[in-house]
Amino acid sequence: MMKDIGIGLLGLGTVGSGVARVLRDKASSLAEQAGASLVLKKVLERDITKPRALKLEPRMLVNHIEEVITDPKVDIVIEVIGGEHPAFEYIKQAITNGKHVVTANKEVIAKYGYELLSLAQKHNVDLRYEASVGSGIPLISPFQQDLAANDISAIYAILNGTTNYILTQMSQEGLDFSLALKQAQELGYAEANPANDIEGIDAAYKLAILSSLAFHTAVKPQDIYCEGVSRLQVSDFRYAKEFGYAIKLLAIAKRVDKAIELRVHPVFIPEDSQLAKVNGVYNAIQVEGDLAGKLVFYGQGAGALPASSAIIADVLTIARNICHGVTSYPKVELNQKLVVKPMTNIKTRYYFRLNVADRPGVLAQISKVLGDNSISISSVIQKESNPISQTAVIVIMTHPAEEKAVQKALGEIRQLTMVKEISNFIRVEG
Ligand code: NAP
Ligand code: HSE
Repeated sequence: MMKDIGIGLLGLGTVGSGVARVLRDKASSLAEQAGASLVLKKVLERDITKPRALKLEPRMLVNHIEEVITDPKVDIVIEVIGGEHPAFEYIKQAITNGKHVVTANKEVIAKYGYELLSLAQKHNVDLRYEASVGSGIPLISPFQQDLAANDISAIYAILNGTTNYILTQMSQEGLDFSLALKQAQELGYAEANPANDIEGIDAAYKLAILSSLAFHTAVKPQDIYCEGVSRLQVSDFRYAKEFGYAIKLLAIAKRVDKAIELRVHPVFIPEDSQLAKVNGVYNAIQVEGDLAGKLVFYGQGAGALPASSAIIADVLTIARNICHGVTSYPKVELNQKLVVKPMTNIKTRYYFRLNVADRPGVLAQISKVLGDNSISISSVIQKESNPISQTAVIVIMTHPAEEKAVQKALGEIRQLTMVKEISNFIRVEG
């Protein structure tokens, strides 16, 4: 008779329900692959009386973590409640109790990954987190194994499905930001606190995980400069298009000698580039290695089923190891002590959108400030004069300039009486 491998599921929301469905609907093919039946034993929920679309046997539902992590029939705990607390403590307790853990929680892995992986090693259990970055796109495993011989020089990535969905709706359908966000939430893409998506925090967690693996350096979320998408307006997409660009929220990690540049912010990228064509909930991760060259990983970056795909794959790996009586845990190697390059020292091109008094001499004043700060203009267009308020929109593109100089110049431009508002500034890549 086939052995049972017991699963404890923490959280029955979007991803948890997806995982429970896959375990039920694909039970026989999963058992064949694992060499054991994967049996859902316990499901932790905050409110076990809450009506749910997915019907489970009532005896499975529990609302105390101890009921899962002390159950001797539970071999693997899947954590999909999300957020930092109590998820971190639950994972820690599960490991300490000798349970293997699979998690989709990028916040916990980005903040405590090294600590938890070391704890798992100590307790001779596995901790896997493939779904935490790129959802169903295989990334953690390729970084740990298939790309291990490479020196990685750069990662350019769209890592958040919610914001990429919002930006696509804004640029292609002219949809308002809040309506696009509402759609992303209804589709199950957004975090419980969507500010994490919108402000770039979720992408920064994911970049911290990937860059720690890529550069063998302990990268923490606070090392990453982070700007979200809430300042973007439909007009920015229109002007970007006029200049031949698309706007994406990019996560960028670049190695320059002994330093790494780490940042998440909206970016103008050439509209014929591969990343510019990544739309909707899709994510894409472009990796540059010295041996493999340029690689692009592409797929759905959010949603119950893509996340379940990665989670179940992790469960299968652990189940096979249990069946074969082997332990093959990926080692945590953070032996390279690269320093993070300060954001003020990065050099890119910039786009500015300014609202100014529609009077002669404004452009000359702005150009002077930019010139005084060694910022050279590559093009400038005056747009949308408003005869009632006597204002006009000016759009400027610069040549490469240092962030420090640009921030100083923006501060000085803000002081010009003829400048009503610096409506936006966006960095340009490529
Ligand atoms: P979700 O829909 O908000 O589900 C979270 C579930 O956990 C809810 O059922 C919630 O219960 C329950 N929960 C929260 N705190 C709890 C606690 N203290 N004790 C017991 N249960 C608790 O979130 P999700 O979208 O499934 O995301 C879960 C995790 O997967 C997150 O780490 C997320 O970043 C990650 N992830 C999500 C996706 C995606 O597309 N959604 C993709 C990849 C990774 P209530 O219903 O009572 O609130
Ligand atoms: N909220 C996340 C996103 C879920 O939109 O990308 C997948 O990690």
